[in-house]
Amino acid sequence: MQGVNLEKRSAMQICIIGLGYVGLTLAIHAVKKKLFVHGVEIADEIYDSLSRGKPHFYEPGIGDTLNHHLNKNLFIYKKIPEKIDYDAIIITVGTPVNFKHSNEPRLDHLESSIETIIPHLTEKTLVVLRSTVPVGTTRKIATRINNSSNGQLIDVSFCPERTAEGQALTELQQLPQVVSGNTPSALKKAEMLFKILSDEVLSSSSLEEAELIKLFNNTFRDSMFSISNTFNIIAQSFGLDGENVINMANHNYPRSYISKPGFVAGPCLEKDAYILATNIKDEPAKISLLSARENNRDLEIKFTNKLKEIVDNNQINKILISGIAFKGLPPTNDTRGSSSINILENLSSISEKITIHDFMNSAEALKNMTNYESIETSKLLQNEQPINYEMIVILNNHPEYKSKKFNNFIERQSNNKCIIVDVWGVLSLKEKITITNIFTEVWQ
Ligand SMILES: NC(=O)c1ccc[n+]([C@@H]2O[C@H](COP(=O)([O-])OP(=O)(O)OC[C@H]3O[C@@H](n4cnc5c(N)ncnc54)[C@H](O)[C@@H]3O)[C@@H](O)[C@H]2O)c1
Repeated sequence: MQGVNLEKRSAMQICIIGLGYVGLTLAIHAVKKKLFVHGVEIADEIYDSLSRGKPHFYEPGIGDTLNHHLNKNLFIYKKIPEKIDYDAIIITVGTPVNFKHSNEPRLDHLESSIETIIPHLTEKTLVVLRSTVPVGTTRKIATRINNSSNGQLIDVSFCPERTAEGQALTELQQLPQVVSGNTPSALKKAEMLFKILSDEVLSSSSLEEAELIKLFNNTFRDSMFSISNTFNIIAQSFGLDGENVINMANHNYPRSYISKPGFVAGPCLEKDAYILATNIKDEPAKISLLSARENNRDLEIKFTNKLKEIVDNNQINKILISGIAFKGLPPTNDTRGSSSINILENLSSISEKITIHDFMNSAEALKNMTNYESIETSKLLQNEQPINYEMIVILNNHPEYKSKKFNNFIERQSNNKCIIVDVWGVLSLKEKITITNIFTEVWQ
């Protein structure tokens, strides 16, 4: 690799602060590249699990690598170990949005993690911020760090994480890695580090530009889905199948690529528009971003109301809601930011009628998370299981919904005049309600 000393490359010492979805997948990818990784995690349960070689979430490829590299070139700690001359300290702590109050991002995890790294910094160390932050945050942090560095000039960069859960390891290798720096030397160090890790490095002209790139990527997706959802609602108000209209509008027409309508979910999409909006002074621009976000959130409320209406009109007493993880493909067990969780909250007044299920989460995990009755996949799909659901709502597109076993299960329920709400159209049944027709009169 051009410009990288291979001797140094194999000896590089990096410290990753926060071993969640982003930190752990990056750690796993880095140890495969022969870096020495010191991972720091403050949550006891996560620390204990990782120290035993057990990842605390599902992601293809991480379990075996964790076990293989643990205590060889991957070390797990609760506190940053002393006396290691780090080439880079990478911050991957959460930056959640405070939905209960202001819809503003909470930067307290980030700020306290910065305090913990300050004693370990030297002029050699590159500080990498990888958490998603409002524009301007990295520069403030660089100032904070340099104000307490006793005259040493500390290099700070912002290098955003842009992977999708379920394919993180592949994408860490293949996606262009955006890098930036508070100084030319910070940029050079960030380029060197990410050239070891990935196929392509994209050097950004400033910290702010790199922060914006990340926020533009996710907010664009959110807005794009919002317009599809708006079009769908409009088509339905005319009694039409929205997806059909969209497909025809896109067909062989090079200037139209309207997405499939549906819920917009996940730990990033639910919050990144708010993070982008934090520092926007232009009011119309801010309103445009946030109304797209709120439009997507509103779909969950509209859907819940319609579901309740169908339950009332048909005097339904036994409902199965399946697909609680925020997406089905690629499979994940992550329920953060899941529309299903929001929908369950909205359905609390009829909770006694509902049993929940997910292909990627155990019945016990679901029960602990939501308080709803839950059922294990093996039990649900048993042939001898009584056929008594009056309504089945499928909320994500996990590939198992297309399996023979699940289709047999559905067929047995359908014989019982069960109403099937298949939000993503994963089943090939004629008698089903999808998101593209749930609001039309047809189903009233
Ligand atoms: N999940 C994703 O796919 C994804 C993708 C792109 C960007 N991001 C962004 O990356 C950041 C991290 O996301 P995540 O999903 O990994 O979050 P997460 O909550 O899964 O992980 C963060 C971890 O940091 C730990 N932590 C907090 N403070 C700490 C400290 N001082 N020292 C050590 N550990 C500490 C927490 O206990 C937690 O395990 C967020 O800003 C998020 O928006 C996430």
